[in-house]
Amino acid sequence: MPDIPSSADLDVTGQRVLLRVDINSPVDPVTKRIVDESRIDKSLPTIRDLAARGARLVVMAHQGDALDYHNLVPTEEHAAKLTEKLGRPVQWVDDVAGPEARRRIQALGNGEILLLDNIRMYGEELSTFERDVRLTPEQMADTYLVRNLAPLFDLYVNDAFATAHRAAPSMIAFQRLLPSAAGLLLTAEVEGLSRILHDPTRPAVFLLGGLKVSDGFSVMGRVLGDGLADRILTTGVLGEIFLLADGIELGPTTERFIAEHDLLHHVDEAEELLADYPDRIAAPVDVAVVDGGVRREFAVADLPTDTLIVDVGEATISAYEVVIAAAGTVFVNGPAGAYEHEGADLGTRRLWAAVAAAPGMTAIGGGDTVASAKRFVDLDDIGFVSTAGGALIRFVSGQPLPLLDAFGAAVDRRST
Ligand code: 3PG
Repeated sequence: MPDIPSSADLDVTGQRVLLRVDINSPVDPVTKRIVDESRIDKSLPTIRDLAARGARLVVMAHQGDALDYHNLVPTEEHAAKLTEKLGRPVQWVDDVAGPEARRRIQALGNGEILLLDNIRMYGEELSTFERDVRLTPEQMADTYLVRNLAPLFDLYVNDAFATAHRAAPSMIAFQRLLPSAAGLLLTAEVEGLSRILHDPTRPAVFLLGGLKVSDGFSVMGRVLGDGLADRILTTGVLGEIFLLADGIELGPTTERFIAEHDLLHHVDEAEELLADYPDRIAAPVDVAVVDGGVRREFAVADLPTDTLIVDVGEATISAYEVVIAAAGTVFVNGPAGAYEHEGADLGTRRLWAAVAAAPGMTAIGGGDTVASAKRFVDLDDIGFVSTAGGALIRFVSGQPLPLLDAFGAAVDRRST
């Protein structure tokens, strides 16, 4: 982690502060209303601290939809929720960097807070990641957003660890133009995770599942390679891919599901990992289907089945519970099964209970992961709950995070 100044150490009274947060929250697919406020809650300390110390505070954020890259939901509801939670008014403007937004920013008094509308209304904010159009950091500093906002501020603060993997103008360009600092959440996330990953209490166990199989593979490669993981317990579709790699036939419905999600290519990768680390990767020994509303379990030796596999079976759950209870550190990403459906939730429910009761250090992160954990256990029983999903996976798997690189480059520029 570069030596990033903390917003807490800066005198912000009367300063015009631009704060980037990640309050991107799960929304109801029909009403588009916020259904989980965790990220809003985690963003409160920095907002509260800056406003309480008299900053003229402008907050910028994005809000996606259930679908990737659909960012059409305005941030007006977020402003109402922030107002309620902070107990002080958070104004909102349905503009980001146009004339109305600029007028409202300039009119702010000390301690006043203004939330801009969804910054991803600007294509430049989106076109720069995982798309064909890419901008250099210099070009990002010349986007409409940055060109119009940077001159209005004295200081840029970033508290959006969950977006740290996005090389977008709001994340990495202001550091080039303004004195910059990390917010309290960003510092806590990076320090907390670095501590856990740097020197984990052994044995370190990774419980990996869910449907985001490529995330699981990118973590596994590194944590097995550098010895960070003593044991990997696979569940969900990830576990099914390891069964396929072991030559087990799952059945036509499950195999079609895996093929349709374009995940079959991971089978080769799983074969290599099994060959290289045979004792460190555990695949399920039984699985469950729900047939006509009734849960049925199959030992792996009794597969294939025509019905879609939706969970791990009880023998797998019991074996994993023992490993989790004996672990020094447990890192979890992805639910064990299709936990939203009755009969398919046993693995997720019992394994979350095991993680919550584990005597070792426990760390979790990711939208689906946290949402599933919340359903079955009290998050206060988990050691470290990260707001980040994609960013966390990249951090754990050792890939660079554009946000930290941008802060690092700013620190280097200041010291030369
Ligand atoms: C997230 O939900 O992971 C962050 O808010 C980043 O959102 P994105 O994946 O749409 O960039």
